[in-house]
Amino acid sequence: MNEGNNKLIVTKIQNGTVIDRIPPGKALKILEILGIDSNYPYTVALVMRVASRRMKLKDVVKIKGKAITPQDIQKLSFIAPTATVNIINDYEVKEKVFLKIPDHVEEFVDCVNPNCVSNTHEPIVSSFDVVSKDPLILRCVFCDRLLDQKYLNRRL
Ligand code: CTP
Ligand code: ZN
Repeated sequence: MNEGNNKLIVTKIQNGTVIDRIPPGKALKILEILGIDSNYPYTVALVMRVASRRMKLKDVVKIKGKAITPQDIQKLSFIAPTATVNIINDYEVKEKVFLKIPDHVEEFVDCVNPNCVSNTHEPIVSSFDVVSKDPLILRCVFCDRLLDQKYLNRRL
């Protein structure tokens, strides 16, 4: 199967967001992160494990009428760092965002340490440095506790 055939599986969309080049199998988690469930009122297409030019296999998600926030982009980058987020307007790709794991994140997930100052003092928000991207490891700037990909997958 080539890229041309994949395009036939789902047609182009008029308005919304297309998340492409998703690591194979991660599409469902992406919909979960974006809060898309059975109540979402517009068309959603999910394609899993199709052949891709760049990656062997990829997932693709197309969501009609969905605007993506900077916070969504940050979360998605940890689950699907290879993905692109394409904003579609009137059938045209108006913006293509290449996801990238940031070096630092704030107010993202809670620290795993219940005694961490970010969990106990209201005005202090969680703050992590990304100390490794592959494998993914985050370090709390307050208590030095390390978070791994498994923890993030559970909490995002
Ligand atoms: N797309 C869509 N509806 C549109 C325009 C684009 O569903 N009206 C989808 C395309 O099928 C593709 C993604 O949005 O999955 C990005 O579109 P485009 O940049 O035109 O495709 P490519 O050049 O193949 O993307 P890339 O080079 O980023 O892989
Ligand atoms: Zn901490």
